[in-house]
Amino acid sequence: MILVTGGAGFIGANFVLDWLAGADEGVVNLDKLTYAGNLDTLRGIAADPRHVFVEGDIGDRKLVADLLAQYRPRAIVNLAAESHVDRSIDSPEEFIQTNIVGTFRLLEAVRAYWSGLDADDKAAFRFLHVSTDEVYGDLDKNAPAFSETNRYEPNSPYSASKAASDHLVRSYHHTYGLPVLTTNCSNNYGPYHFPEKLIPLVIHNALAGKQLPIYGDGQQIRDWLYVKDHCSAIRRVLEAGRVGETYNVGGWNEKSNLEVVHTLCAILDELKPRGDGATYASQITFVKDRPGHDRRYAIDAGKLANELDWKPAETFDTGIRKTVQWYLDHQEWVGNVTSGAYQHWVGKQYGS
Ligand code: NAD
Ligand code: DAU
Repeated sequence: MILVTGGAGFIGANFVLDWLAGADEGVVNLDKLTYAGNLDTLRGIAADPRHVFVEGDIGDRKLVADLLAQYRPRAIVNLAAESHVDRSIDSPEEFIQTNIVGTFRLLEAVRAYWSGLDADDKAAFRFLHVSTDEVYGDLDKNAPAFSETNRYEPNSPYSASKAASDHLVRSYHHTYGLPVLTTNCSNNYGPYHFPEKLIPLVIHNALAGKQLPIYGDGQQIRDWLYVKDHCSAIRRVLEAGRVGETYNVGGWNEKSNLEVVHTLCAILDELKPRGDGATYASQITFVKDRPGHDRRYAIDAGKLANELDWKPAETFDTGIRKTVQWYLDHQEWVGNVTSGAYQHWVGKQYGS
């Protein structure tokens, strides 16, 4: 069995669904069900005996210790986190609690469990920590893409909290010998993405006839990776990654935000044209920039490609089209997650 944390969130749920579709090994899924966690996403495996869902906090030492003792997982994949940069600017406290204190407590519980394993199980055990390219900070326009040896220069409370968690994970390997792996991935997109993030927000707002908010000049650059390709990279690193190493994961898809939004509008114009014949791009609105907004991220995923022979299955063109189609086909899921607390966040972040 493996223990996945944060498995009701965007990447975690995709990871659990893909894992169970591709292997018979069971999953214990520990998730606090914050605003970002959604059991609706896991509805298809609700009755699957290979999936055990536990509502709880990675920072709850006793709960985690009990789960480890009961299920004796051979590996942990840590995806639980507060993940939204804008929320970290608005209220950083939860990011410190979950991403730093929570990861620390999880590591402590795992260290105690791992120390008690017999020699073979100890050697085979893995703690895989899922992190982000944002820990490397802002990249100059013409600088080479981030490699694993780039300095950590986090610029938001979110990325600083993720950087801190990465350092803790690293230290548990160097100090205690815990067999850890860390992945630093670029921006994901795809099914079950909560519509607070750029791509699902734009699709959702476009269909609702609302403004498509572009922060600042929209020339900020991100590297985009289809979520299922991120999941395949995590599985590959878990399977064959060298203990103690970090692996950058990316899609070789650098795009400006404006380019991404225009692409979404063009696909929507084709698949679900507006009733009045106008393009969705007419809904684009430039709004106040994000404080401390990093201009560019870019990932060099060469180490993962060369050492572990991983490459993404989707190009940006194929992945983004699948994503738009998924949202058009799953409006009920979107409706469920955009009620209640979501409205409060949108009002606070974008005004009326
Ligand atoms: P998400 O916000 O969609 O999901 C996070 C999940 O963690 C939610 O289900 C939430 O309920 C759960 N959670 C939060 N606090 C918890 C706690 N204290 N205990 C247990 N569960 C808790 O995030 P995501 O986009 O799926 O990101 C998953 C991980 O991948 C994060 O660590 C994030 O930093 C990292 N990451 C995300 C991206 C991206 O583009 N989304 C890119 C690179 C790395
Ligand atoms: O790079 C990896 C990171 O990608 C992950 O670590 C984070 O968890 C994930 O949320 C994501 O962070 P970003 O800040 O890049 O994602 P977001 O979708 O919030 O924003 C993408 C870009 O779009 C960013 O430059 C800000 C901009 N943006 C975002 C929103 C929500 C807008 O212009 N308008 C918006 O309304």
